[in-house]
Amino acid sequence: MHDFMLHRPTRLLFGEGQIARIAEEIPEYARLMITYGGGSIKQNGVLEQVYRALDGRFHVEFGGIEPNPSYQTLCRAIDLAREEGVDFILAVGGGSVIDGTKFIAGALRYDGDPWDIVAKRQRLVFDAVPFGCVLTLPATGSEFNEGAVISRPETGDKLDFHSPNVIPRFSVLDPTTTYSLPPRQIANGVVDTFVHTTEQYLTYPVDAKLQDRFAEGLLLTLIEDGPRALEEPENYSVRANIMWAATMALSGYIGSGVPHDWASHMIGHELTALHGIDHAQSLAVVLPSLLRLTREAKRAKLLQYAERVWNLREGSEEQRIDAAIEATRGFFERMGMPTRLSGHGLDGSGIPTIVDKLVEHGMVALGEHRDITPDISRQILENAI
Ligand code: NZQ
Ligand code: ZN
Repeated sequence: MHDFMLHRPTRLLFGEGQIARIAEEIPEYARLMITYGGGSIKQNGVLEQVYRALDGRFHVEFGGIEPNPSYQTLCRAIDLAREEGVDFILAVGGGSVIDGTKFIAGALRYDGDPWDIVAKRQRLVFDAVPFGCVLTLPATGSEFNEGAVISRPETGDKLDFHSPNVIPRFSVLDPTTTYSLPPRQIANGVVDTFVHTTEQYLTYPVDAKLQDRFAEGLLLTLIEDGPRALEEPENYSVRANIMWAATMALSGYIGSGVPHDWASHMIGHELTALHGIDHAQSLAVVLPSLLRLTREAKRAKLLQYAERVWNLREGSEEQRIDAAIEATRGFFERMGMPTRLSGHGLDGSGIPTIVDKLVEHGMVALGEHRDITPDISRQILENAI
């Protein structure tokens, strides 16, 4: 096992009705800003629960943070927060609202051009306005981690940044808030969580027994309960298991002390930036193709995955690896998610632009061995047409 440092200070409030407790988590005289997305929280009653919990406390609101939160929108939120002297933020929504809020929180305490925070590829956020979250879409793990992904559609950029100063103070995880998710977003959450797990598990063995078994437990839970969430949207137990799995998958716990891949994510971000397909949809296209191309480097873990996750014990090593990759593809498709570019109506003509963007963003040595060159990224995408 590799050395690691892990600090996760977020207070998690898990369960039905926990939104009622947020007032205890927010300083009483805070100049609070509530951030949210396109309005789902108004339709499903979550905002109403937040109002009730705040019981008339001072707050301003900033809505309209879009999926793949855009820099331009977030700059308007930063202006409003400055005008109002905001000193605490409550993000209510999915990963995009939480990521956007992390950017707002960091930018409010950053002196330079806010875009530097993502564009410079360095840790620049040394301070941030404190914030908490009410999560409504289990997927990204943003409610418990230090990462955020920000987009700039006008330049075709989608880039991540990380800072321990943007870890949420608290996050509410009420599984009933996810009952209103449309099937596409249920699938997005399950597939994103699945791929977060494989990015930290399907690499090479370092005898990290607990991390491996934790990762396998997450994958098995998703395989069992992902399709059930589509079939029985108001099954509390199913939603609770998926919500907890999503938080844990990108919490740092399974990723501590082990090698990381993240190539599917980096290639996927460029696919989203160019074609607008959802984050998880991009992963479902890239991962199966990436696993085929990197099967030698990942051989030992792919065999372990085949046996422990898919119960594949018969046949040659090559057959078991093939069957595990096909089982992964089949699972994504069972969740209603295409696993080829053609499934999104794309013919691959955008691949050269995607590869150019990877180079522009310095994504030229991806994967756990840093050996996924732009040429290999191109092959991964071409094989996924
Ligand atoms: O905007 P509203 O109206 O709220 O609707 C949203 C949005 O349209 C809707 N939604 C959310 N909760 C709902 C709901 N609809 C009905 N009922 C509910 N309870 O779902 C749509 C998608 O929301 P979004 O927040 O964009 O989805 P997700 O949570 O999948 O976040 C995706 C973003 O997170 C980034 C992705 O790249 C993408 O930008 N990621 C962030 C990571 C992190 N911070 O660690 C890691 C991930 O790998 C990922 O890259
Ligand atoms: Zn992801």
